[in-house]
Amino acid sequence: MQTPNAQSSRYRLGRSVIPVRYELTLSPDLGNARFAGMEELEIEVRERTDAIVLNAVELEITAVWLLDRSDRRREITSVDQDEEAERLRLSLSEAIEPGTWRLHIEFAGALNDKLRGFYRSRYTDAGGQTHVVAATQFEATDARRAFPCFDEPDLKAVFAITLKIPQDLLAVSNSPALSDVAGPGGSRVVSFADTIRMSTYLVAFVIGTLEATDPVDAGGIPVRVIHPVGQGRHTSFALDVARFSLQFFGDYYGIPYPGEKMDLVAMPDFAMGAMENFGCVTFRETLLLVDPDSVTQGELRNAALVIAHELAHMWFGDLVTMRWWNGIWLNEAFATFMEHAAVDAYRPEWRTWTHFSLSRSAAFRVDALSSTRPIEYPVESPEDAEGMFDVLTYEKGASVLRMLEQYIGPDSFRDGIRTYLKKYSYGNTETGDLWSALEEATSQPVERIMTSWVFQPGFPHIRIEREGDRKTLRLSQERFRFGAATGSPVQRWAVPLVLRVGSGEVRGSDHRLLLEGGETTLAARDSVDWVVGNVEANGFYRVSYGAELLAGLSARLFDRMTPIERFAMLDDRWASLLSGDATAESFFELANSFSSEESVDVWHTLSACLAHLSRLVEGEALTKLRAVVCGVAENAFVKIGWEATGTEAQEVKELRGVLVETLCITGADPDAMGRARVIHEQSFADPSSVEPNMAAAALGAVASVGTALDHQRFAQRAAVASSPQEKLRYLYALSSFPEAAEIDRTLALTLSGEVRTQNAPYLIGSCLRNRYHGNRAWKFIRENWDKINSTFPPNTIVRMLAGVRAVDQPETAAEIESFFSTHAVPQGKLMLEQHLELMRVNVALKKRESGRFAEYLLRNQADRS
Ligand code: BES
Ligand code: ZN
Repeated sequence: MQTPNAQSSRYRLGRSVIPVRYELTLSPDLGNARFAGMEELEIEVRERTDAIVLNAVELEITAVWLLDRSDRRREITSVDQDEEAERLRLSLSEAIEPGTWRLHIEFAGALNDKLRGFYRSRYTDAGGQTHVVAATQFEATDARRAFPCFDEPDLKAVFAITLKIPQDLLAVSNSPALSDVAGPGGSRVVSFADTIRMSTYLVAFVIGTLEATDPVDAGGIPVRVIHPVGQGRHTSFALDVARFSLQFFGDYYGIPYPGEKMDLVAMPDFAMGAMENFGCVTFRETLLLVDPDSVTQGELRNAALVIAHELAHMWFGDLVTMRWWNGIWLNEAFATFMEHAAVDAYRPEWRTWTHFSLSRSAAFRVDALSSTRPIEYPVESPEDAEGMFDVLTYEKGASVLRMLEQYIGPDSFRDGIRTYLKKYSYGNTETGDLWSALEEATSQPVERIMTSWVFQPGFPHIRIEREGDRKTLRLSQERFRFGAATGSPVQRWAVPLVLRVGSGEVRGSDHRLLLEGGETTLAARDSVDWVVGNVEANGFYRVSYGAELLAGLSARLFDRMTPIERFAMLDDRWASLLSGDATAESFFELANSFSSEESVDVWHTLSACLAHLSRLVEGEALTKLRAVVCGVAENAFVKIGWEATGTEAQEVKELRGVLVETLCITGADPDAMGRARVIHEQSFADPSSVEPNMAAAALGAVASVGTALDHQRFAQRAAVASSPQEKLRYLYALSSFPEAAEIDRTLALTLSGEVRTQNAPYLIGSCLRNRYHGNRAWKFIRENWDKINSTFPPNTIVRMLAGVRAVDQPETAAEIESFFSTHAVPQGKLMLEQHLELMRVNVALKKRESGRFAEYLLRNQADRS
């Protein structure tokens, strides 16, 4: 797919003038939420021109002039700002010649509260004092909101940044400070060293009442955490992960970290999760500040993954950058792949790649829709660019990279990456450049294979059947879809298949083949009894088996399959249920055979599937289902019990949490719930007295049956809890209360100013998923649509709406469809379509299955006594 021609789009700048170096001075006024700026831009004029066009939006231009090499001024006859196209056009009285010029611009703007561009954030410290922070978030196209610039990723330049700030504040940017001197009127002038040659979207500066840890050494690079006052005690985990990751990546990439220092900044308000500004990475504080005594395994792993992800970008993304936003997948998919590789090396016992199955599954879900898109996709406007940050870019992208890495071998893959990064350091690339580098490192047709995965929507469904001779396997591919294909052309992928083929009880042997046509056969030596169709689940495809092979495999779940393979099998079967190829009953019976499962990741998905099944039925049938769920979970639970032991692995603690939630919430087990209540009271009184995974599970359990009084206590704790993770647990639990009055109260909180705008949309999204009151959350959104849009960061709106996927009432679904036929979500058109299509899939599932599943439960499942 080609980059849109620079000239053809009103959103693209020309290439006759390009930036070389920005000398940028900013003077923020935190109290009045304003800033003034001045920049001197060294530009290279490549073709004679009588106008200079760059990007700017919501900036007031107060002075501008152009200087030639000998400082002679050229007259600028008009300054035209096109707010729609986000451009600034400077017309000259006469055309200028190719060469080096200096453009001087003075400007002013507002520190906004939309968490993008140059924005203002506030926090209150433990002593009750409020502080202001001014910070930046530029990706994808918001640097132009802070200073006029050539805001396209291939227009790389060097940045020399100076900040004029009040005496008592801390200021950080991409590079180390070179000088820090007193300015007029008690002010300070901090000048930072020149950055590497890089894209505008990676520029950052943060100014505020903040503290910095002492630096930790990562192979010669000083790493610090910058944090709100008083949070220093929660920084050691992040420092350790960062130290490890920087060294891991330096080794892996074969290039030392290209900067001089690394600051990780914990932001009180932040639109995304984290941002890879070169040398100055910003984060939501929950992803950076962790209290080891109160954090769950899930929270800890997530923090490690996000930190590693951003640091992976320092090379892949920052040093080598996609040419245009259609290539953003290359950045994000690769960083997502590398975050898992780094954390897998950091804590092998966490089995990070098994955990990755949950991400792969999320990608499969969207990619089975007719509203999916290819991983790489044309981008023109800033809104198109925002829409690219989705599960297909990140999770599908990382999945296909993992598939390739495992297929060509980790060493060849790494060698190809090294070649690529060396070749394109400080430059920009297209997707094909990566494939060429990988082809150099291996004898495999990387480009041909990967093109089929990156430029086509969807993924294959591999069917495996055994022929009458019992030795021949017939393998075929077809696009996997939740709905019927309507006249679409036949699609084919180059599928790196890895099968484990077994006869009787022998271990089985692996067969590798590249399936490029519609079908093929595989001849085994002996008669085949079972096949694992996706060994170690590295392939981005779903598998289904003929009846005998399925039976053969189902009988060997725990002795011939690894946890990640069981995960994949369960996930594939769940997908067949959604597509209408399997029944709830058959899935439920498969799930029942998982009672000896010990992998926490398999349990994550099992538990989610059982919870979903429980939403298909009510009354007596639900009671029966709950009894079975409790049976399965208890069988796993008895082995580990309620009490954590000092010697057990972190994963066991995590599993205990999942099982307790399953027993209490989906299973509605009164004994377990009684116990969870007691545990929650204890942890409410003294958070450090209960093992964190258990504390979090008990909290979730209590919320699911919580009273008005519980709600009040939860809301209060969400406001004051001292650990960022605990705060969020209480906050999000407010969405799962069972009574309407509490859900209404939760929804009201989201617009009352009590919940940060970075969290409020996700809390509303979570209310949409409430088992009983999704429709109330929907009404709230509809009635407050304008306020929601004017209050929350623009890119969070479509993420809030992900909650509609859980709607299963046809009436509510119809209202939602009709609302969006007249209301747009500009930053996420396609994502919204996908949410709506998944909502339809969910409504259809309920309609198709609830009656017969209820009958099955009533017929087959005896009450538990
Ligand atoms: N580059 C992104 C941040 C970003 C995303 C900026 C979308 C602008 C628009 C960053 O590297 C990232 O991927 N952040 C993730 C966190 C994560 C998955 C590791 C995010 O913010 O969700
Ligand atoms: Zn990223």
